[in-house]
Amino acid sequence: MKRVIIVLALLLAASAAVFAGAKKEAASGVRHVVVATDSTFPPMEFVDEKTKEVDGFDMDLVKAIAEASGFTVEFKSVAWDGIFAGIEGGKYDLIASSVTITDERKATMDFSDPYINAGQILVVQNATTGVSTLADLVGKAVGAQISTTGAFEVEKVKGITLKSYDSIALAFEDLYNGRLGGVVVDTLTAMDYALKNEKYKGSLKIVGQPFTDENYGFVVKKGNKELLDLINAGLKKVKDSGKYAEIEAKWLR
Ligand code: ARG
Repeated sequence: MKRVIIVLALLLAASAAVFAGAKKEAASGVRHVVVATDSTFPPMEFVDEKTKEVDGFDMDLVKAIAEASGFTVEFKSVAWDGIFAGIEGGKYDLIASSVTITDERKATMDFSDPYINAGQILVVQNATTGVSTLADLVGKAVGAQISTTGAFEVEKVKGITLKSYDSIALAFEDLYNGRLGGVVVDTLTAMDYALKNEKYKGSLKIVGQPFTDENYGFVVKKGNKELLDLINAGLKKVKDSGKYAEIEAKWLR
């Protein structure tokens, strides 16, 4: 009799544990997350020439968050122009693409907690003299990626012609070839093109300081609180564990 009771007690405890596990998982139905990115923005997101895979700071951070929050991820390269429409249309669940958190965007999409700060900065040809701010380029054409916060900044300056490009790579190519007076882009990406890129370093330079204060966030469809909570909880864990610092050291040194 005693033995039967012990066995029963054990069974009960085991099934309670199973239920607890099931309940924990049911708290979030998120198992697999499709992540969209415009992979033309090194070092944040770009396609590795050898592996042909998307790589970069954002990818490593999303992977770490996924691991911490217990879901799997899959990356999808998409064009920047239309990237926000795709989340509304349900083509993917998350955008990890150096997206600046702005009040205008918040009206139509939800952002995670900020994960990095990166303002806009001006890049010109190395040979250019006497230019330290956008205002010094009045009368010239300045390039930026279409519908980015960089393009919005260029538009604000009277007398400058904004040239919008589908990708910032094309803007840098035109700057290099002398078709633009400057390019405005997020600081970390400016540093990559002007200081690290084999073709451009030595030919391009950054002038002045970042002139906007911007924070990046991950984007979910408006109202997708379930995924947003998982991302924010994961981001916190990744920061607390030291993994975030590791990713930073890998990509931003
Ligand atoms: N931070 C800027 C913005 O949100 C530019 C982001 C561009 N990102 C990219 N992967 N091309 O407007």
